[in-house]
Amino acid sequence: MERTYLMVKPDGVKRNVIGEIVTRFEKKGYELVGAKLTVITKEMAEKHYAEHKERPFFGDLVEFITSGPVFAMVWQGENVIKTARLMMGATNPIDAAPGTIRGDYATVMAQNIIHGSDSPESAEREIAIFFKEDELV
Ligand code: PPS
Repeated sequence: MERTYLMVKPDGVKRNVIGEIVTRFEKKGYELVGAKLTVITKEMAEKHYAEHKERPFFGDLVEFITSGPVFAMVWQGENVIKTARLMMGATNPIDAAPGTIRGDYATVMAQNIIHGSDSPESAEREIAIFFKEDELV
């Protein structure tokens, strides 16, 4: 049984699609084991996106992700890491298929609605940044 870290980004919170996104993962059959609406600090954002710190968009990414509340979640289920990424669609909404979250709700890379862990190692690291063990059921 895997766990993954999913986060509705500030644009998704503003667009009022938290409920729609949660519903998709519930209907798929995954189990929500932790969730909170929170404004993340610059330090947390820099830690979360540390692997991208040399990329030209790093500053914009940190500024964007700290610009308003995010909806941080931990989901559990068989192959949830890979399947959640498929359900999210390609990182660049231009390439995201209709029916995926980004394919249905996003148009540009800088506002692509949702983040999801890309590997078991990332999931473990990211869950630990945003949740304490006693916040997960
Ligand atoms: S991936 O999936 O890691 O290969 O995607 P990548 O292209 O490397 O992008 C990594 C994260 O950076 C975000 N991103 C951007 N944010 C703001 N502005 C620009 N120009 C930009 N380009 C990429 C992208 O959405 C990825 O964020 P997450 O939260 O991981 O989806």
